[in-house]
Amino acid sequence: MRIPWAAVLAAAACTASPSPPRPEPRIRLDTTKDESSNNDDLDVLGLMSSALTTMQDRYFERWIGTWPEGIDWTRAVVNTHLVAALRTITDELPRQNRTVEDRECTITGTHHLISGYFADVIAYYFGENAFEIRHEAYDDMLWVVLSWLESIQFVKEHGDLLSGTGMGFTSSLLAWYGDRWAPAFAHRSRIFWELAARGWDDKYCDGGMFWSPRGLPYKNAVTNELFISSSIAMYLHFPGDPNNEPFGGRNGADSTSSSKPAKFDWRPHDPIFGKAAQNAHAWLTSSNMTNDQGLYTDGFHISGLDRGSNNTSCDERNEMVYTYNQGVILSGLLGLYQATNREKYLDEGHQLVENVIRATGFDLEHGKPFEADNIKPATTETDQAVSRLPPWRGLGRAGVLEDACDASGDCSQDSQTFKSIWMHHFAKFCAPDALKLSGKNKDGKSAEAAEKVRQRHRERCRRYIPWLRRNARAALGTRDADGVFGMWWTVGLLAEEQGKGVTAEEVEALEKADKHAGGRWPVGSVDYRNRAEWRHEGGWPLKKEQGNIKTETVADGSLSSPSETGTETDAEGEGASQKPITSRDLGDRFAPRIGKRESNEQGVGGLLPWDPNLRGRGRTLETQAGGLAVLRALWVVWGNERDGS
Ligand SMILES: *[C@@H]1O[C@H](CO)[C@@H](O)[C@H](O)[C@H]1NC(C)=O
Ligand SMILES: *[C@@H]1O[C@H](CO)[C@@H](O)[C@H](O)[C@H]1NC(C)=O
Ligand SMILES: *[C@@H]1O[C@H](CO)[C@@H](O)[C@H](O)[C@H]1NC(C)=O
Ligand SMILES: *[C@@H]1O[C@H](CO)[C@@H](O)[C@H](O)[C@H]1NC(C)=O
Repeated sequence: MRIPWAAVLAAAACTASPSPPRPEPRIRLDTTKDESSNNDDLDVLGLMSSALTTMQDRYFERWIGTWPEGIDWTRAVVNTHLVAALRTITDELPRQNRTVEDRECTITGTHHLISGYFADVIAYYFGENAFEIRHEAYDDMLWVVLSWLESIQFVKEHGDLLSGTGMGFTSSLLAWYGDRWAPAFAHRSRIFWELAARGWDDKYCDGGMFWSPRGLPYKNAVTNELFISSSIAMYLHFPGDPNNEPFGGRNGADSTSSSKPAKFDWRPHDPIFGKAAQNAHAWLTSSNMTNDQGLYTDGFHISGLDRGSNNTSCDERNEMVYTYNQGVILSGLLGLYQATNREKYLDEGHQLVENVIRATGFDLEHGKPFEADNIKPATTETDQAVSRLPPWRGLGRAGVLEDACDASGDCSQDSQTFKSIWMHHFAKFCAPDALKLSGKNKDGKSAEAAEKVRQRHRERCRRYIPWLRRNARAALGTRDADGVFGMWWTVGLLAEEQGKGVTAEEVEALEKADKHAGGRWPVGSVDYRNRAEWRHEGGWPLKKEQGNIKTETVADGSLSSPSETGTETDAEGEGASQKPITSRDLGDRFAPRIGKRESNEQGVGGLLPWDPNLRGRGRTLETQAGGLAVLRALWVVWGNERDGS
């Protein structure tokens, strides 16, 4: 089903003489390489909404209330993207400059659409493998926390919008039904936060979260960033939870055991959450986890533990750099600022964002790629053998974000999710409303100081828009005929700027250039998320290893179809046998759909001769979420400009 988002959002359905439909989303062909911060040529909100519609209508199965092709943690992330997009649409409605009647009508119409997709969120509340995730790694649990906290905020904001229109009835029976779900969402957030908090440990590395309760200690960036971000979000947004099930209550085990009873009746703004966030942040910043590009590496092992040593310090750093490790902390830093009014948290976030943007080959100073990262037009025959794309810069190229696996097309299901995560947390960090909570102190002096901070923050965020726009244009260029986004955005930029996609020969040449530039996998890195060498080295046992697809180049330069089935494996330790998926996880039923791909000869929309985004896992739920997230980020961060305040 295709929803005419542009028409809906323009209230065409409401007025007697509908305004003419907006033209098809047009992307300006821009060969000057200068990115503008004006996005009027892109119908960003309409494109974002279409990405959402495609994600839900193609990948969500309502009869089981889940995205069958996802896995537990990617589903939690996708749920977060879904809710975040609904928040953005809700947020947009009152901003529109309309007559009162138009506005009311648009809000009513859009309310029905939002409610339709919010029903998916509720279905997923029951479709989520909540029992199994309790036994997974700590990061898995924390994605769950973030997704339900996002939902709580959405419910409140949408309810507030409706009360402003007369649709929010004061009687609780007639109130928007979303409100009734907030306690359930709060309960699940709290349960999973508590479970995950057990992953904090002071014996090794003087603190920090373990990745997983099993195997050799690994204190990694993502789990600690998630703990910071989810703890501070609990502090700020958790509305309390008096529900003691399933661990406590009258019949619960805890009430009869001699051990300390569980903490009942969690209240909002419990200092426990705020302190946890601050501690974790202090630990992470002192852990020496960033490399000389100022980017977070993946994490730390402790040397000799597998040889029976009594060492306890984090001394073996895994140099692997992923996009999401630079992202999750951004929402945490914003939250820490909101909770403390200390600008140093924002400074830290901007520093990280700038480091990321530089590592994609983009010169923030001049609002365009570094000279060497300009895309070269393919004018001659010989250019065919030489890639028009510049070599790897640490986290992308040509001003576009990439994970190391993008260019080789061998990303795992995990990695296919990473860029969407970066975009989501970046959008939170730079949203116009981000500083709404600041300046709570009533005395004029601190309010004035907070306003200065807000202005500085806004100015810095404004500088990121041209880069963000470039990434959105790149992602848009990867869509296939059905509007599904691909994994490797950079090639979308080629298609978009030059109307000519990348060839297999160019990708091959690019591999060589990347190797020459030092390679995409840093020395001393172990890519747990995409490559499985660790298994044979007695290394850290990985909780997931799905999605490692072996593809073989065949004679005509296209790739053989992957043997990937989309089932989830759970390797818990050396030689662990693959655990069959449960009956709740119906992923295997959908395997044929994943396996069946269009032929790579046809290319995107008939435009490209060869489509690098069909390699490996191809286009998936997770790559679609990436497209949604980058468009949403552009819309949200650009909001700083549109509002002009
Ligand atoms: C919004 O409405 C006001 C008042 O009718 C008008 O002056 C202004 O130009 C409008 N702005 C836009 C962007 O249409
Ligand atoms: C930080 O980690 C790097 C890479 O492992 C190492 O070379 C450096 O000595 C460490 N610095 C400190 C202060 O521990
Ligand atoms: C313990 O740590 C030290 C210092 O990092 C290292 O040199 C040593 O090899 C480790 N012990 C074992 C048994 O690996
Ligand atoms: C490890 O054991 C050795 C020998 O028993 C001891 O000298 C050393 O202090 C211990 N190190 C730690 C970090 O406990």
